[in-house]
Amino acid sequence: MLSNEKRGDAVDLSHHLSKVGQARLTSPLKGLQKYMGKPGLISLAGGLPNAAYFPFSSVSGEILAPDSFPLESGSEKSSLSWFWRLFSKPDKERTLTFTVGKYSQHPGDLDLENGLQYGMASGQPKLNEVIREFVGKVFQPSYSNWTTLVHTGNTDAWSKTVQTILNPGEGLIVSEWTYPSAMASAQPLGINPVPVGMDSEGMSSVSLRQLLAEWDESARGMPRPHVLYTVPIGQNPTGATMGIQRKKEIYDICVEYDIIIVEDDPYYFLQEGKYVPKSERLVESNTDDEAFIASLAPSYLKLDYQGRVIRLDTFSKTVCPGSRLGWFTCNPMFAERLERTAETSSQAPSGFTQIYVASLLLKWKYEGYMRWLKALRLQYRQRRDYFLDCFADEFHLQKTLSTEGYTAGTHVYYASLKPKRSFVPLSEKDVAYAKSLFSFVPPSSGMFLWLELHLEEHPSFKSLGYKALEMKLWTEIAEAGVLFAPGAMFFATPVEDDTPGYGHFRISFSNSTPEELKKAVSTLSTVLRNFMKN
Ligand SMILES: Cc1ncc(COP(=O)(O)O)c(C=O)c1O
Repeated sequence: MLSNEKRGDAVDLSHHLSKVGQARLTSPLKGLQKYMGKPGLISLAGGLPNAAYFPFSSVSGEILAPDSFPLESGSEKSSLSWFWRLFSKPDKERTLTFTVGKYSQHPGDLDLENGLQYGMASGQPKLNEVIREFVGKVFQPSYSNWTTLVHTGNTDAWSKTVQTILNPGEGLIVSEWTYPSAMASAQPLGINPVPVGMDSEGMSSVSLRQLLAEWDESARGMPRPHVLYTVPIGQNPTGATMGIQRKKEIYDICVEYDIIIVEDDPYYFLQEGKYVPKSERLVESNTDDEAFIASLAPSYLKLDYQGRVIRLDTFSKTVCPGSRLGWFTCNPMFAERLERTAETSSQAPSGFTQIYVASLLLKWKYEGYMRWLKALRLQYRQRRDYFLDCFADEFHLQKTLSTEGYTAGTHVYYASLKPKRSFVPLSEKDVAYAKSLFSFVPPSSGMFLWLELHLEEHPSFKSLGYKALEMKLWTEIAEAGVLFAPGAMFFATPVEDDTPGYGHFRISFSNSTPEELKKAVSTLSTVLRNFMKN
């Protein structure tokens, strides 16, 4: 939609509400709370403890300055300085402080009297203001009455969404590889994952259309699904990034088949971009905020002219997971139903959390938070690059353009063992005959590398099958002191041992020292060398 076009309101999508979603009533006492802020009101209705008896007189915090991490990457030419910059804590921590007192000095300021009191499930007004400004500027929804609502992290948000729009016995469209915790929320409620094939951008629009067009209700034993769950950036587990064109194709299909899109997007700001091998890497330079936003693959919200996207944002990856704080962006009808769900479960996110995160964002201001996010992206890019460089040092890597499966359309790196004495240069014969033992697509977003194992030459391949062999290798690597996530747990639907395919590992590069990352890669190499013999 063009920016000068008048945006309409969301269309009526209330037929997507589940039976539970429809049945929720306003919690009887919460219904009174909207009067609470009224000037001069004497409220004797609630069961609010008296703020004078809150033992917290004030809370304060010391936060990093928003420009604590650099905006420019190190040059490959000076490998030492690049190494020091990466993973290093800020040279000298520059900090800012804030204090929130019990009673506010100015109307509208944060205070503990209200901040630590029972409150509306919709959260504290100051925090909501900051979130709303952020969504408008960064995600730019394409309809006018979009609404935000706080939640206690995307895990909570997804669980509330499932209850609100899915009934037992219904199907849920997901990518063939997907985030297992999301399935763990839905499946016990009788919701059936319906996998869709992927390519290098994540869910394939061609496979999605085919699935919907050919849906046979009696053969499938359930109506055509009306909800699609997606992790479009830093797809968990494959690390893929979905661009605007693919999103548009999927959005249009969802309009045609009347499907709600749930966009679970915790890695949005960790869009690291294409991996460039060490020898070709250039110095990264700073960009202004607008260019930064434009460089990120847009959210589904930007295409959403009907209000059929429920977007889940979290502070887990940009501030800290312990905050247990995030927000929905969706149409007001869904927001109202989700708020009713919150009223009888989490209520509002913790008052402490809201005060701390709101104070951080108010202190940094929008510009400061943008500055932080830009640097964060660079930090993760450098981690990703360093980790992949370790693979390039340890293994012989060969790059090939893939045309099929979940890697179709991008370059795949095939890894084979280097001769033991790695200072001996590889002869052409060695290279030609070196068997690739695993392959990967460099992740373009997120925190994970997704390895595909090629163990066909293993002596027990025929008797054990892919899945058992994956576990055997996984166990040997774990015994050697390195823990990966076994790939089988990321299948949307359980796999049999003899299902054709490959073993996989999901490997995180987000939270280890350079030494640990390097050691993990060399351990993989050592274990593989022995593993292939027996
Ligand atoms: C796809 C996806 N969704 C949700 C979460 C959890 O987010 P939160 O900490 O906000 O509950 C994760 C975290 O790893 C994730 O990868």
